[in-house]
Amino acid sequence: MSAELMTDRLLAALPEHLQAQAAQRLAVAAPTLQRLLAGLYGGRADFDSWYGALMASLGTLYAARPEALRALDAERASRPDWFLSQQMLGYCSYVNNFGGTLAGVREQIPYLQELGVRYLHLLPFLRARAGENDGGFAVTSFDDVEPALGNNADLEALTMALRGAGISLCSDFILNHVADDHLWAQAARAGDAAARAMFHIFPDRTMPDQYEATLGQVFPQVAPGNFSHVAAAGGWVWTTFYPYQWDLNYANPAVFAEMALALLRLANRGVEVFRLDSTAFLWKRVGSNSMNQPEAHQLLQALRAIVDIVAPGVLLKAEAIVPTRELPAYLGSASAAECHIAYHSSLMAAGWVGLAEQNTEVLRAVIANTPELPPAATWLSYVRCHDDIGWNVLRAEAGADSAARLARVARFFSGAEGSYARGAAFQSSDPNAAHGSNGMAAALTGLQSAQTEQERELAMRRMLLLHGLALSFGALPVLYMGDELAMENDESYLQRPQHAMDSRWLQRPRFDRQRWLQRHEAATPAGRMYQGLTALVKARQTRAALAAHAPRTLLADAPAGVLALARGDGFRALMNFSAEAQSYPLAGRWTDCISGAILDGTITLAPYALHWLERGD
Ligand code: GLC
Repeated sequence: MSAELMTDRLLAALPEHLQAQAAQRLAVAAPTLQRLLAGLYGGRADFDSWYGALMASLGTLYAARPEALRALDAERASRPDWFLSQQMLGYCSYVNNFGGTLAGVREQIPYLQELGVRYLHLLPFLRARAGENDGGFAVTSFDDVEPALGNNADLEALTMALRGAGISLCSDFILNHVADDHLWAQAARAGDAAARAMFHIFPDRTMPDQYEATLGQVFPQVAPGNFSHVAAAGGWVWTTFYPYQWDLNYANPAVFAEMALALLRLANRGVEVFRLDSTAFLWKRVGSNSMNQPEAHQLLQALRAIVDIVAPGVLLKAEAIVPTRELPAYLGSASAAECHIAYHSSLMAAGWVGLAEQNTEVLRAVIANTPELPPAATWLSYVRCHDDIGWNVLRAEAGADSAARLARVARFFSGAEGSYARGAAFQSSDPNAAHGSNGMAAALTGLQSAQTEQERELAMRRMLLLHGLALSFGALPVLYMGDELAMENDESYLQRPQHAMDSRWLQRPRFDRQRWLQRHEAATPAGRMYQGLTALVKARQTRAALAAHAPRTLLADAPAGVLALARGDGFRALMNFSAEAQSYPLAGRWTDCISGAILDGTITLAPYALHWLERGD
């Protein structure tokens, strides 16, 4: 079949008034899509008929896209860099913790607006596996909301209300695996050949052993190994994460088509941003760690081309927790677009290393390794999230003795040797190895353990320091629910047997109404944090130098404890990661954006102080 006949199949599904627009989008994106998919699946005899059928399905979803979302697509097409603005700010939470249900989250919209939030990432809310489900990351149906959280009508009502408030909803799209009670997994266990082909199922250990020789482990303690024996499936199933999360086999084109269509159906319900979960793992290769494979990038680029055709207002966000050098590829290049946004987990982790070591060496190395990005793409900057702070992404930047160095950092955050931190080491029983660290920001920065006013003040500064970095780096910053109110660790997971082994639950507390009521009371920890943070958010909103794509330079003239970033010629972010006062020379006159103080000559940075300075007075 010729390329044109293929795209005709999409056009044939559309009413006349949409055809010219669709033809235009196809002219731009379809050649790329066809090249990528032919590269992945072109060797199969049925490729043409498969690709034609995919086009027809895309046409059906194109035709079904609601008018309001089509208008949004058009508006965003005219401003493709809309999400790079300094006014963009994200907020992330679990639905049940923040609002109880999706309808409850709708009631939180005024609070999000008060905070200046323009983008809300709700952690998984689709129907999840019965029983333990990794906080919803084991999805049973991509087409239904989890009944405990509401229904599809609630989801559509929420996306519409958020859109009206200028807030984009971000949903996880867990595309690496499905729950073991997803229909495909059930059918695979029942012996259905097509369903079995959706997964990686091996009759014996021959292939699993070959793969394991070079694979890493995500949860070495609670879910060791990458394969689970499932007697009903007659063998070993690839399960990178928990045994009940079955990895999908993207070498099978049916998997790609099903998942792309599922994503578009959610987009048509008003989801504007997709957090593509665990993108690094999509393609498996013997002899490799089966992460960041070229085919994984081809798959993501094909998904992007599909989104650009059917729902071009939608953004794709890569969750790839991988070393800094592997990250830029997820944002594609000027000639091959991939995701719009990618988590900068190295930057996040390096900020914490900076605090533990009172030294910015690793942070500077990460920033030096962070390249310029293609247009209309950006990093996601953050202080904490629902997962652990994974230290191993910093192996390259942490130097020759990186394992021991990062293990020291992990021990520091678990409170060892007199440290102020009250976190927990994650997935490591070996005190000399580092995997990750868990805990709310208030616990890791010493607020939770503070006994004196001075200790509280220092902890508060540390929290604002890391948030200041995320807000001034040049990225899309995302706040993690509870940190804006200095909420502390939630130890209740220890009482739940199914969670007790997974200390990531420390940082998954319920929204604290009491603290929320105190947010304007400067004498309370909640009020102090809230006011400090919202002052930064407000200062950022009006300064174009802080937009994601405005130029950033790492200044080399700062002492080792200080990170100094220039944003263009007229803005400086100075961050003291050490417990000692530090001085930094300033040429010319500068104004402190928060205090309004005028500075001329050398500035003295108090322990853990953050200053945003603007040239002139
Ligand atoms: C991502 C999620 C994490 C989850 C894993 C498996 O890393 O952030 O919470 O456990 O994927 O879905």
